[in-house]
Amino acid sequence: MLIFTKIAELRAFLKGIKDVNQSVGFVPTMGALHNGHISLISISKKACNITVCSIFVNPTQFNDKADLKRYPRMPEKDAAFLEKAGCDVLFMPSVEEIYPTEKKETYDFGYLNTVLEGKYRPGHFNGVAQVVKRLFEIVAPDKAFFGSKDYQQVMIIKALVKQMNSNIEIVNCPILREADGLAMSSRNTLLSKEEREIASLVPKIMQEAKQIALTTGIHEAKQFVSNEILKIPDMKLEYYEICDADLNELTDTKQVKNAIALIAVFVGKIRLIDNIMFN
Ligand code: PAF
Repeated sequence: MLIFTKIAELRAFLKGIKDVNQSVGFVPTMGALHNGHISLISISKKACNITVCSIFVNPTQFNDKADLKRYPRMPEKDAAFLEKAGCDVLFMPSVEEIYPTEKKETYDFGYLNTVLEGKYRPGHFNGVAQVVKRLFEIVAPDKAFFGSKDYQQVMIIKALVKQMNSNIEIVNCPILREADGLAMSSRNTLLSKEEREIASLVPKIMQEAKQIALTTGIHEAKQFVSNEILKIPDMKLEYYEICDADLNELTDTKQVKNAIALIAVFVGKIRLIDNIMFN
């Protein structure tokens, strides 16, 4: 696996690849890699000739500075994990390399930026768009692969690609879960043993709520989630919503069959998100 830290060197290498008509798949990450990331690498490897993974903890997408400070960083372990997975190229730029000036770009994602993660993490998607646009311009991939645990992020990135008039294909990949159902996330490494046990209740509550929504109603499912989480010490609900595919909140129980339920909770200080499709 080749490792680049400088944009110019990565670009020169990728030019050689594109000159011989090889396709490039891209997996942008913030590191602390887990099997969920590795599944994106595997999907990219099947779809493209060359797979590039980036590791960059993007400061502009953290609305909470303490969250940025505690975000897990383990570059050597990550590089070994990627090498083993057969990743071709790892790009690990510095903050100065990605943001040589302080210039702040602003994006308009309309409604999408006003709900769920957009509502609770002001500025977050603007930061995600800023870094993803920059990375897309550097790597210029044919396809880019994202995990659907961040369902709303995938929608934002699809909207970004449209705004960029780019034809990069955004591939939405399935959520990978631990044996007890917890969605894989870099943030799971920050949980204490007790918190990790508590966190595994989230997918179970989501599953039960799905059955309640399908058999009884949306209101009852929401009530169930909020009551269950209130009972768990050290867990705090930020939101639980049942939405259509465009993230419009559903109120009519008849539409629930094709819904997606999305949740954000705090377990201690650690914020976790998850979602579940109803169909
Ligand atoms: O999902 C992530 O890890 C990040 O938001 C991304 C897409 C790599 C941008 O920093």
